[in-house]
Amino acid sequence: MSKSRSLFVCQSCGHEALAWSGRCAGCGEWNTLVETPREQGPSAKWGRGGRTRATAAVRPKRLRDVAAPDVARVQTRIAELDRVLGGGLVPGSLVLLGGSPGIGKSTLTGMALGNVAAAGHSVLYVSGEESAAQVKLRAERLGGAALDVPALAETSLEAVLGTLESERPAVCVIDSVQTLHAEGMTGAPGSVGQVREAAIAIMDVAKRLDCAVILVGHVTKEGAVAGPRVLEHLVDCVLLFEGERERSFRTIRALKNRFGATSEVGVFEMRSGGLVEVEDASARFVGEASAAPGSVVLCAMEGTRPLLVEVQALVAPTEVVPPRRVATGIDRNRLAMVLAVLARHGGPSLSAADVFVNVAGGVRVDEPGADLAVALAIASAHRGEPLASGDGRPLACFGEVGLTGELRPVAHPERRLAEALKFGLGPVLAPPPTETLEGLTAQPTLRDALGATRKQRAVRAAA
Ligand code: TYD
Ligand code: MG
Repeated sequence: MSKSRSLFVCQSCGHEALAWSGRCAGCGEWNTLVETPREQGPSAKWGRGGRTRATAAVRPKRLRDVAAPDVARVQTRIAELDRVLGGGLVPGSLVLLGGSPGIGKSTLTGMALGNVAAAGHSVLYVSGEESAAQVKLRAERLGGAALDVPALAETSLEAVLGTLESERPAVCVIDSVQTLHAEGMTGAPGSVGQVREAAIAIMDVAKRLDCAVILVGHVTKEGAVAGPRVLEHLVDCVLLFEGERERSFRTIRALKNRFGATSEVGVFEMRSGGLVEVEDASARFVGEASAAPGSVVLCAMEGTRPLLVEVQALVAPTEVVPPRRVATGIDRNRLAMVLAVLARHGGPSLSAADVFVNVAGGVRVDEPGADLAVALAIASAHRGEPLASGDGRPLACFGEVGLTGELRPVAHPERRLAEALKFGLGPVLAPPPTETLEGLTAQPTLRDALGATRKQRAVRAAA
């Protein structure tokens, strides 16, 4: 039987199939299988046919006896980035930085390299997307040491590896990994084979030279790092840079970190001179919060830090079936759940209304603790009544909404409460905590919480 000369490789997960199909059997993505000549297929390297034989045994070591030197991390001197990395870049590690176009990946990495260079370490910026002149224009805007960073506009993997070997930088940025191509392989830059080849080759050199490498990666519409998912398994750390392009706030979070926690979030603001760290993000967001109907302040947790953000809702009658549900900054499914619970447990039924929910400032809150804020914002928007207290301060709340309409406790109630009280936003509406906390109005169910906001308003109206 003649062997077919092509393989079909999924561009998302690297799964190989003998025949084309619309949907990848490996990851379930549609339209990701691309025909690849068999010789160049990723499996060709590992050979086929022969049986694997054992070689001389290697003696394993007890973990107690393994030498693990305490390596000094390289600080990027961008405090928010260092915190998300778990205290700086680990020499020899591979960091994948994902983000949509124009979010500021090149700006962030350019600034980080400038700082590292200023601290006396050798650095290298490889740009596959922009010419050296374009990189220079950005560095001019950033000012300072950004102009001292040696840059290489190159897309050939071999050339990049050669430069790494000869320059031996302590930190290297590859912007972006999707633009590199290995000469020995067919397939366009950015295809699964090319990206995987590039990442493995770079990892090899980085580990050998103790060079920390930041790979910049594109993200797909769905927010996953584009190209093969294998990349995410390969690298030590996956960072995601998010935010709305039109808004100036950006957040950076770790999806995976072999050298630190993944719960940390860094907040930045894009200004004319580059990204500025936002240390007191709550103050910014509370300052912007209004006391209008449909607005409520959520006491969220971003990693180990409490963060106050404004959740806004708009309810508008519609004849469109099904009505629109637009969620920005929160999970769509969570919004659908909150709407269902509202309809069933004391809130409005909005089957004939469009509902828009937005976390102001371009922040994303991916935690169930946002449920109550979403529910109250929608109810307030529906009634057209503000939830604010008499003196115009917005209402602050947090808590998860259960399917039976109960409010469920969430992590760190005391830190959330303290942050709200710091900005004079008490009392805070929340699920009953395990211990008594001053300044907290505990409500056991969503119905009670809705009632409490109504009662407050009635009291104020009578006064
Ligand atoms: P960039 O870092 O090139 O984004 P990415 O590499 O993620 O595609 O920059 C994104 C945007 O930031 C760009 O539209 C211009 C803007 N910007 C500023 O507002 N201020 C600055 O100092 C710089 C360098 C860029
Ligand atoms: Mg860029």
